[in-house]
Amino acid sequence: MFPYFHLRSVSTAPISNNGNSITCSYRIPPRRFFQKPAASQRIPEFAFAFDIDGVLLRGSDPLPKAHKTLSYLQSQRIPFILLTNGGGKHESERVADLTSKLDVPIDVSMFVQSHTPFADMDSYKSKTVLVVGGDEDKCRHVALRYGFQTVVTPGDILSAYPEVWPFSKPFLPYYSTFAQPLPAPISPSSPSTSLKIDAVFVYNDPRDWGLDIQIIKDVLLSQSGILGTLSSKNGNKSLPNKGYQQDDQPPLYFSNPDLLWAATYHLPRLGQGGFREALGGVWAALTGGPNEGVELKKTVIGKPYKPTYEFAEKRLVKHREELLSESRGREGVLKRVYMVGDNPASDIAGANNYRSEMGTDWVSVLVQTGVHKAGEEPKIKPKMEVETVWDAVNWAVEKENWHVEKS
Ligand code: G3P
Ligand code: MG
Repeated sequence: MFPYFHLRSVSTAPISNNGNSITCSYRIPPRRFFQKPAASQRIPEFAFAFDIDGVLLRGSDPLPKAHKTLSYLQSQRIPFILLTNGGGKHESERVADLTSKLDVPIDVSMFVQSHTPFADMDSYKSKTVLVVGGDEDKCRHVALRYGFQTVVTPGDILSAYPEVWPFSKPFLPYYSTFAQPLPAPISPSSPSTSLKIDAVFVYNDPRDWGLDIQIIKDVLLSQSGILGTLSSKNGNKSLPNKGYQQDDQPPLYFSNPDLLWAATYHLPRLGQGGFREALGGVWAALTGGPNEGVELKKTVIGKPYKPTYEFAEKRLVKHREELLSESRGREGVLKRVYMVGDNPASDIAGANNYRSEMGTDWVSVLVQTGVHKAGEEPKIKPKMEVETVWDAVNWAVEKENWHVEKS
């Protein structure tokens, strides 16, 4: 079990750690220290992975120490990536956004968002995919830029067939501003020519839960993803999962498991995980659910899951090589990654559980500027708890003796 440290901003005030007081007198050295030629030759064996919401931003507002922290690391050529469960825009748009908001140059090579790994799912690029979530149909355009050729959204289906979800009728004018014609009609009488969905991807937090749950449920109960049909296997107790999702229905992917996240409001808000739970509840009510041995078969990526950390680690190692290219041959290997996050269930759990095949040690650091609040006992213990992202970096560079003159 990790020893649990609790560090307030770099002050000389005594700090309680389960009653044991520790005095911390560390200060980041003055600027002139940075320009010492020694620093430029030094190769950091450590790096950072920063969560965004609740660490660098609250809603669209930068948190106080965000700019200072990232520009300090850039001044030291200490590599870092941004690793978020957020999304909803193409990576290039998001980093342009972040660069202006944080006033620090951020590049796509140092950025991973929840749906970035979907870009590698080539097997569906020539198929018809249903993309759910995000503002308007922005996620459609992300999927198209990832190379998915035929992308349908619930808004497209509603605009073509308003009766599919009568309660969104008041929103038809909204959907009509970005809905696209369907690649095929919904015609249950001729399934072979009817709209067929080959995979369902939830890219970002859904806005219209009612419509999105209705459409996903229709696809999962259909025959082979053909909308407007019902699989005859549904409810068949002699089949696995009581016959549900046993009739070549499309796979269901979620990009982000977060039940809660830190937005502008002072209390955490429901995230994509809340939507997944709501869909799961409807599915259980329709199918009998776990009590009757029926599960909702799905794949969830994003923090805390291993595939997202593997993906992020590869991106960080590559970015580090590029950043330290002048020291090619001397850069050595990345030994430690400090994962700085505000959400114990995603950021901290992910870093604590991640066993890197590259042998890199991921160290979890919990901040108090987002989902987790000062004084709360986190269900998942971080290696270190601090107040802000700036304190996290302070603690880590001290631990790395980064400013201790190497003789
Ligand atoms: O929707 C985004 C949210 O779930 C959390 O984002 O940056 O804190 O991982 P982030
Ligand atoms: Mg966060």
